[in-house]
Amino acid sequence: MGALDKLLNKSDKGNSLFEAEIRKIKIPVCKQFLRGGKISPVDFKPSKNSVSTKDSTKVFASFPNLRETASKVMEGVRGGKTPKLKGKRVAVLFSGGPAAGGHNVVAGLFDMLAASKCTLLGVKAGPKGLINGDLFVIKAEDIKRIKNTGGFDYLGSDRTKIKTDEQFAAVKKTCVDNKLDALVVVGGDDSNTNAAVLAEYLYIGVKPDGSGVQVIGVPKTIDGDLQIGKYLPISFGFDTATKIFAEMVGNILQDTPSSRKYWHFIKLMGRAASHVALEVALQTKPAVALISEEVAEKKMALGDIVKQIGDTVINRAHNKMNYGVVVVPEGLIEFIPEMNLLIHELNHIVARHEKETAGLDLSKKIEFVRTKLSEEHSSLFASLPHYIQEMLLFDRDSHGNLQVSQIPTEKLLIDMVKKYVKSNSPETKFSTLNHFFGYEGRCGAPSLFDAAYCYNLGLTAAAAIVNGMTGYIVAFTELENGGEILAVPLVGLLNIEMRHGREEMVIEKALVKTDSPAFLYFAVNRARWGEQDLFTSPGPRQLWGPVSNQMPMTVALNQGYGKLGFKI
Ligand code: FBP
Repeated sequence: MGALDKLLNKSDKGNSLFEAEIRKIKIPVCKQFLRGGKISPVDFKPSKNSVSTKDSTKVFASFPNLRETASKVMEGVRGGKTPKLKGKRVAVLFSGGPAAGGHNVVAGLFDMLAASKCTLLGVKAGPKGLINGDLFVIKAEDIKRIKNTGGFDYLGSDRTKIKTDEQFAAVKKTCVDNKLDALVVVGGDDSNTNAAVLAEYLYIGVKPDGSGVQVIGVPKTIDGDLQIGKYLPISFGFDTATKIFAEMVGNILQDTPSSRKYWHFIKLMGRAASHVALEVALQTKPAVALISEEVAEKKMALGDIVKQIGDTVINRAHNKMNYGVVVVPEGLIEFIPEMNLLIHELNHIVARHEKETAGLDLSKKIEFVRTKLSEEHSSLFASLPHYIQEMLLFDRDSHGNLQVSQIPTEKLLIDMVKKYVKSNSPETKFSTLNHFFGYEGRCGAPSLFDAAYCYNLGLTAAAAIVNGMTGYIVAFTELENGGEILAVPLVGLLNIEMRHGREEMVIEKALVKTDSPAFLYFAVNRARWGEQDLFTSPGPRQLWGPVSNQMPMTVALNQGYGKLGFKI
């Protein structure tokens, strides 16, 4: 075998030249976690700050065990004076969609727990694996292999919601069978809501001595909709995903004045909130970027959005720019008030007539549903193309979310804008292409920001455990200035929302605020981006070199950092 053959074979199974190099990147560690150059747990003390929601009084009544600690935000401080737990068995699971950096959370947990002589176990395939008792002991050589790599493939993940008595009992059994002392749930808003309920359920009476199992949450999701103001600037995975999308959108933007013939409608993943679309817009400056939260606030109809895009198309054509990019947030459709009302009515109809519609093929189901809709919504539903009607009837996920990633909103807009341009400016040439970027951004190798953020979140979660804490989500702030370690009580974050027609306690999704510095910066500048070619191409995310330490622009603006570089 030749030398090149050997080199190529060496790269099998995650050992490309790139993957081999990223494992060597030294991850910055917050200095609070270092004693004599070695990783060591911090102490946690109550900070001056508390969290609560409008529903806290009612919510706290359902959490008798956690009520005492349900408000105070805890702060990690150097000292290590409080006695730490040793020899404990801790399990970690991923829940929901993947996000870059998850493997570094596991690495951070492992390193901190090893320093406290504890064992880390991995739960295979998310909450389902916890219910089925599918666990294994994580070894140091695995950590070496997965560090700084993307994906959730080391453990796997799923979207099972632990809600029935049988499921809770099965989780308890898994804890007993595996002699667990603590559980770390790496997930988004719904999974962390589940973590709060588990923390209460497992608080006492699990182990033979009558004690409980601690539960700690870690904030994950590319959507960026798990944020807690100054206590939690962002969930992990957002930075990598938006850097990947921004590179791709930037490349397309660069193509548009080169080939001068297409308008690209690009839908970006991010579920309900438009954080991803806003971040990518700031990084690339496209001709049009829609922000769902603004659409809802201004009560825009589908026709208003079509007019806004159509007028930009016509105006740019007058300036010989028959090209451009429209960024569309994944969840837009649910934020258009008339569509939102339609979706709500559909949800009720689908739930109420589940049995009657179960055996029907799709076109019959669409017909059936139409007859049940109110007059107003029936005509709106009928006006939508068949592919949209179909997707609006698609099954909800186990947390009750409409699967917005499956709805081709970008195609709907193209069809409607085409009609608008044709009737308002028949001479305007308008050729279109559509894209959906989502799955491309979730599992790439973590940006340096996510690699460092996740590792330090893992250290924080393990430190909270050896300090005996339960019912907290860990957070890491002051990202421009060395980092501050926090643990925020999950119960204090719970609101009461109507889901599946009944009240449920949930962590509210953090949406884009139209008075936030990031949105205001966008709002002031977007008209120029539409009128001229001012786009920028951020290029591929950098893991080495002068711009590798860039954090998300929306985070820097909203946290008031005054610079883009993070420093841990
Ligand atoms: P999480 O909220 O679980 O992190 O998932 C985020 C997400 O990537 C959304 O942006 C998207 O709408 C959804 O997952 C897609 O779900 P699936 O992976 O089930 O197709």
